[in-house]
Amino acid sequence: MKILFIGDVVGEPGRKTVAEYLPKLKVKYHPTFTIVNGENAAAGKGITEKIYRQFLELGVQVITMGNHTWDNKDIFEFIDHAKYLIRPANFPENNPGKGIVYVKINSFELAVINLQGRTFLPPIDCPFQKAEQLVNEAKKRTPYIFVDFHAEATSEKQAMGWFLDGRVSAVVGTHTHVQTADNRVLPGGTAFITDVGMTGIYDSILGVNKETVLRKFLTNLPSRFDVPKHGRTQLCGVVVEINDKTGLAENIERMILNDDQRLFN
Ligand SMILES: [Fe+2]
Repeated sequence: MKILFIGDVVGEPGRKTVAEYLPKLKVKYHPTFTIVNGENAAAGKGITEKIYRQFLELGVQVITMGNHTWDNKDIFEFIDHAKYLIRPANFPENNPGKGIVYVKINSFELAVINLQGRTFLPPIDCPFQKAEQLVNEAKKRTPYIFVDFHAEATSEKQAMGWFLDGRVSAVVGTHTHVQTADNRVLPGGTAFITDVGMTGIYDSILGVNKETVLRKFLTNLPSRFDVPKHGRTQLCGVVVEINDKTGLAENIERMILNDDQRLFN
């Protein structure tokens, strides 16, 4: 069984890039499930119902979120009936939405869990305790468990990988938008990468208009960050191969598709 995960999709250019490449990636890899991090999909901040539906129409099974979950107010209107959208599970109890979802394709039932780190991010419930609780719950239903850990600190993301090694199929890091080259299967059988990377404008700073970010660094004055409308784009993702019987990972391959690193010509 294979899972394709596409990293943080930023704004319209990111969404268009997913629409362009996903059909080709599906032909190349035949993923059983496709998961996308969509917390930056609406102009860099949050997601709308329309965008959520567009992802589903493209053949995405689950959309994960992160610290920008509540930035687009549209979310409050639809999150409670968006079956395949999850936000970090360690947000305060009683927040709208949920942090785990089960999806079934043929004989495979996959649990997808979204968690958020606490280092250099707002204080929320402990992601490790929440992971422990949800993984134990999910284990009763299925051996296939995929975790998107949305966190700033590389150490915290690696800690989560080791914490869950041998207990889940994969732990992938998101949020920092730069793909790390440390993809590996940990000794217990959990696929891991510190950060999957960003899908959006290539000539940018983390998907954001480089001029506006640069102005902030140069002047220290407030700057309104925006996502460029046009420009060269990139897609970042990983493909995880999972043993059908054990639910443990056999391989994790990473991809960056842009003008300098081409997968399709
Ligand atoms: Fe984020």
